[in-house]
Amino acid sequence: MAFQKILKTALDSPYAYLSSLDAYIFNKPGKQLRPALVLCTAGVCGTPGALSYAVAAVAEMIHTATLLHDDVADNAETRRGMTSVQKQFGPATAILLGDYWFARAFRILVDYDGLELLPLYAEAIQALSEGEILQLEKGRTLDISLNEYYSVCEKKTVSLFRTSMVSGALSVPEKEISKTYMPIIEKAAYHLGMAFQINDDIMDYCPVEEAGKPCYQDIAESKITLPLLGALANAGETYRPRVVEWIRQAENEDKEALLRIIDFVKKNDGMEYARKVWLHHNVKAQEQISSLPSSQWRDCLLKISGM
Ligand code: IPE
Ligand code: IPE
Ligand code: MG
Ligand code: MG
Ligand code: MG
Repeated sequence: MAFQKILKTALDSPYAYLSSLDAYIFNKPGKQLRPALVLCTAGVCGTPGALSYAVAAVAEMIHTATLLHDDVADNAETRRGMTSVQKQFGPATAILLGDYWFARAFRILVDYDGLELLPLYAEAIQALSEGEILQLEKGRTLDISLNEYYSVCEKKTVSLFRTSMVSGALSVPEKEISKTYMPIIEKAAYHLGMAFQINDDIMDYCPVEEAGKPCYQDIAESKITLPLLGALANAGETYRPRVVEWIRQAENEDKEALLRIIDFVKKNDGMEYARKVWLHHNVKAQEQISSLPSSQWRDCLLKISGM
């Protein structure tokens, strides 16, 4: 695939240790959802060309860089079913490797005449960092509201979904057509990204281990997500001090306290609450995508939204 070739070439380094770190990540690629969003949106709007494939590679590199940093922020030991880079090689290496990938991604955009798309990616990384920092702050204060949670999702996840789709649309020669679809593309990206992050947060409360992701990691790292916020909304905010106390105890390796939180979510229908919000975004995403002109690319976007 053209985008994978660009990705591989971009990361070729004469520095052997750096190459071995890149190989460590590439041996187990992820779902490559963002490149798919880039290319499908490009296809919906016109004729995907060299810039579209380069942008697809850029989106994946930036995503991977943010995951390297996210695993440091979340103290995560695994990623994609393997030991995370921060655990295997240390947090300093993970941070610097992430920086390296950001820089290489920007360089590709310039090399493929995509300079005008650069502000979109700068904005996405800015929003993503804001979202991650807000989440860290709220992990300390534990006073996160539903609206703040949605803001975290929008900043840390929707941002790159939006930039992937918008930059894909603008990577084709038929840019005038792309611009007429932009309001739909923006809304589709918003709902897709929200649904994606909410699903990820729901999966963290599911006792079945998803490929590469152990469960209850969020709450173990003091991150209050939608299942717990939904349970609090159902039970009443008067329960928050009690939940906060359990989270503090769980921070000190108290397994009983962790079980009490999981039980609270279950008893107060936190999962049902979160699934309803997920469904709302999922349906809205499909509605927006369905209003784009019919093509195999649109069908591919629909398939992604059904995942
Ligand atoms: C993980 O994204 C980060 C979130 C936004 C939840 P993906 O699930 O797309 O990660 P990979 O690239 O497929 O591993
Ligand atoms: C998504 O949040 C992180 C980014 C958007 C960078 P998570 O922290 O929930 O992602 P996972 O669960 O580690 O993949
Ligand atoms: Mg994480
Ligand atoms: Mg995180
Ligand atoms: Mg997660």
